[in-house]
Amino acid sequence: MTGPPGSGKSLLAAALPGILPELTPAEALEVSMVASMAGELEGGRLVRTRPFRSPHHSASMPALVGGGARARPGEVSLAHLGILFLDELPEFQRGVLDSLRQPLETGTVMVARAAAHVSYPARVQLIAAMNPCRCGHLGDPSQACSRAPKCAADYQARISGPLLDRIDLHVDVPAVSAADLTLPPPAETSAHVAARVAAARAIQTARYAGVKVRTNAEADGKVLEAAATPDAAGAKLLAQAAKSMRLSARGYHRVLRVARTLADLGGAETVARIHIAEALSYRRRAPTN
Ligand SMILES: Nc1ncnc2c1ncn2[C@@H]1O[C@H](COP(=O)(O)OP(=O)(O)OP(=O)(O)O)[C@@H](O)[C@H]1O
Ligand SMILES: [Mg+2]
Repeated sequence: MTGPPGSGKSLLAAALPGILPELTPAEALEVSMVASMAGELEGGRLVRTRPFRSPHHSASMPALVGGGARARPGEVSLAHLGILFLDELPEFQRGVLDSLRQPLETGTVMVARAAAHVSYPARVQLIAAMNPCRCGHLGDPSQACSRAPKCAADYQARISGPLLDRIDLHVDVPAVSAADLTLPPPAETSAHVAARVAAARAIQTARYAGVKVRTNAEADGKVLEAAATPDAAGAKLLAQAAKSMRLSARGYHRVLRVARTLADLGGAETVARIHIAEALSYRRRAPTN
């Protein structure tokens, strides 16, 4: 999420736990095991809710990916099967952010120990928030600083391309005016959205019943192909976009996964052009300056 200060990015992230699907018993066990390794299992009871971790941007590499003398799991593992929220993304140390690339790809993290390597699960949904530039007001001529738009390019360059390539949904969060806030509240509550999410999860559970995959996010190779091959119009659009947007092979598969999820949320059997188009619209465009 990119947007000016006070537009509600941190607020939106804080609202996310309210729409997450429930943990299955097997998932609850996995989450609890990691918490136990980190000494964070309260009263020895199983964890029943999806983790939501939001480490501060001053976090060190061992704190984020794990390590230290006792090879403790880091935030990325404590967020396993839940959300890892990185607020003010460009303020994190670049090396620390890049250490997330491998776990984001594989869903596991290797922690080096004196004599051996320990591997922890780290299948997270990464949510990140940032201002478009350091002063935060790029795109608003009345408030932008004198260095705009150069300052934005510098600020955004703190995040490496490969990390951005792993973020599927890039969302602009525009400023909200005081007038907007006095409008009647939206009809949809978190409970409504949570019901849609749960339904989409149920579809995925049924789809992947025979294979070692739980969700579209985990599907790869032949499994992904079988689940998410779009119809003819969708395939054509994706082929065109892959060329014009210069999608990496990773980007191509990520678009397919997002499109499959959009279709599931809409209750559609086949991935169609409209799902591919929406998925593509969320991919990062090159900076506009
Ligand atoms: N869409 C909204 N509806 C209602 N209140 C909002 C909205 N957006 C922001 N607010 C109010 O503004 C406050 C600040 O929002 P928030 O902290 O999420 O902004 P932010 O985008 O994270 O800003 P920053 O970039 O400075 O961190 C919220 O706590 C809330 O009171
Ligand atoms: Mg904020």
